[in-house]
Amino acid sequence: MTSLVLLALYCVGARALSLVEEMKTQELFLSSLGLPERAPSGSRQTRRPVPSALWRMFRRSENPQARESEPCTVSEYGVRGNIIRYVQDQGRLVSGWSSSCQLCLEKQLFFNMSVLQPVELLSLAQLEIKFHWKQVLQGHRAISVSLYKVVRATLRGTDPHANRRLLLVQSVQLQLESSTIAMDLTSLAESWRKPGHNYGLVLELLPLGAKLEELVPFYPGNLLPLEPTLSLPTIQASLVAVSLNPHQCRSRQRRSAVHLPVTPSNVCKARRLYIDFKDVGWQDWIIAPQGYMANYCHGECPFPLSESLNGTNHAILQTLVHSLDPQGTPQPSCVPIHLSPISMLYYDNNDNVVLRHYQDMVVNECGCR
Ligand SMILES: *[C@@H]1O[C@H](CO)[C@@H](O)[C@H](O)[C@H]1NC(C)=O
Ligand SMILES: *[C@@H]1O[C@H](CO)[C@@H](O)[C@H](O)[C@H]1NC(C)=O
Repeated sequence: MTSLVLLALYCVGARALSLVEEMKTQELFLSSLGLPERAPSGSRQTRRPVPSALWRMFRRSENPQARESEPCTVSEYGVRGNIIRYVQDQGRLVSGWSSSCQLCLEKQLFFNMSVLQPVELLSLAQLEIKFHWKQVLQGHRAISVSLYKVVRATLRGTDPHANRRLLLVQSVQLQLESSTIAMDLTSLAESWRKPGHNYGLVLELLPLGAKLEELVPFYPGNLLPLEPTLSLPTIQASLVAVSLNPHQCRSRQRRSAVHLPVTPSNVCKARRLYIDFKDVGWQDWIIAPQGYMANYCHGECPFPLSESLNGTNHAILQTLVHSLDPQGTPQPSCVPIHLSPISMLYYDNNDNVVLRHYQDMVVNECGCR
């Protein structure tokens, strides 16, 4: 279905396709990608880079052997799935003194789980928090990191701790290379999918073994006239969500790469067609591949139908009738009979980076039907 839409888009070309038709075709394809509206065409520079783990998985998924072995399984995480999203954190940094802990720096974390479609089964949600210091404060080797889940909205003037449940306390070394904390949050993330159930998380950072005077430069508060000598850590949080769309998980055998001959012939067969995503205006949100060999079917299904044309019994009879009455009955059509999937890495409407496997994107074989 999707490849046919793409083919229609490509074959008709910008010349003949009206703007309305083009928009409709694109909408159809995008909704099959799970993007109900067209992804914003923001510039690449303002978007965050693709996590290196996702690049590795994308390259691996391009290897046909790796794909065939375990369809709809993400072996990197050992779970079922055909969609991997890096859901971006949208929480604020409450810089300066936290209301509940005098020496703490507080960061809210919020992951919008409505990017998952209701049909998707969540297999894994792993929180990854990366800390990065530009400069290390003398004498302080570590910070204590506490992670809380927020169970209900906090009203002004109430103790925020009453609405929090501690999930994790861990100390993180202060070092110039970044440090990462990872934690499995699958069941919590599943509960966030229900509307009105996501109050997010709170992260508290406390430098260990520090005195208040020494900490002053650590915070960029307006309370004190000192220039901060230590820049705050950059905190980058993502929720790696692996999910399975069961409707897009048929067995996907992939034949070895199709090398189609370029010999001209009028008989039904697969023809080479490279679709460049630039040509259809999708280069802004599809990260990789830049294009791919989609191919298409074209040609006649003449009488007598030879075996190589992969005709059905019905098609064999139809060619016979056509040969007797060419005006009254058309030839059978030359159509795809075997298609194969590709993997795509793209930005969704919330600028999350997503790796997803799409079926029926490449024509491998044609037949008369
Ligand atoms: C979450 O994302 C959905 C769909 O993109 C959007 O409609 C909604 O407003 C977002 N919610 C929040 C709290 O940002
Ligand atoms: C028919 O199928 C065979 C393999 O089953 C394939 O080699 C051949 O190219 C197909 N015919 C066409 C017209 O694609």
